Amino acid sequence: MNGWNEKKSVAVIEETFKAGASLTGALRALVDTFGYVDEAAMTPLMKTFARSRAEVLGVISYYEDFRQSPPGRHVIRLCQAEACQAVGGRELTRHAQEKTGLALHETSPDGALTLEPVYCLGLCANGPAALIDGQPVAQLNAAALDTKLTGFEE
Ligand code: FES
Repeated sequence: MNGWNEKKSVAVIEETFKAGASLTGALRALVDTFGYVDEAAMTPLMKTFARSRAEVLGVISYYEDFRQSPPGRHVIRLCQAEACQAVGGRELTRHAQEKTGLALHETSPDGALTLEPVYCLGLCANGPAALIDGQPVAQLNAAALDTKLTGFEE
């Protein structure tokens, strides 16, 4: 993931618009390219999609995926939906928060790790589920999570 680049972000917005994508599609492309949607994208998004600032922010805030600040070098997204909660998802989230010292939606001060919620990854029969650096992980437990966290430090 690269840092924010205003010129490139405008190109991404224009390309997605020309390809027929919706505002949501452009936001997805920005997150895929930069990891987040920077405040600097507001004006080009508003102009390109003929939407007000409130409308753009409404779409951004509706979807968990459209974060508005740069993520850490590693991102752990823990499923918070019902099926995962039924098999220990809450306890796993609590463990992750205690182990990392981070709340959900928080990035460590050194930029190494972001902890985020996610709502169902389609792995409901194999929870607790998570996305770790974009890779789905089923039946995650505290020990396996600790191993991943240790691996991030190396
Ligand atoms: S409820 Fe967690 S993957 Fe579906």
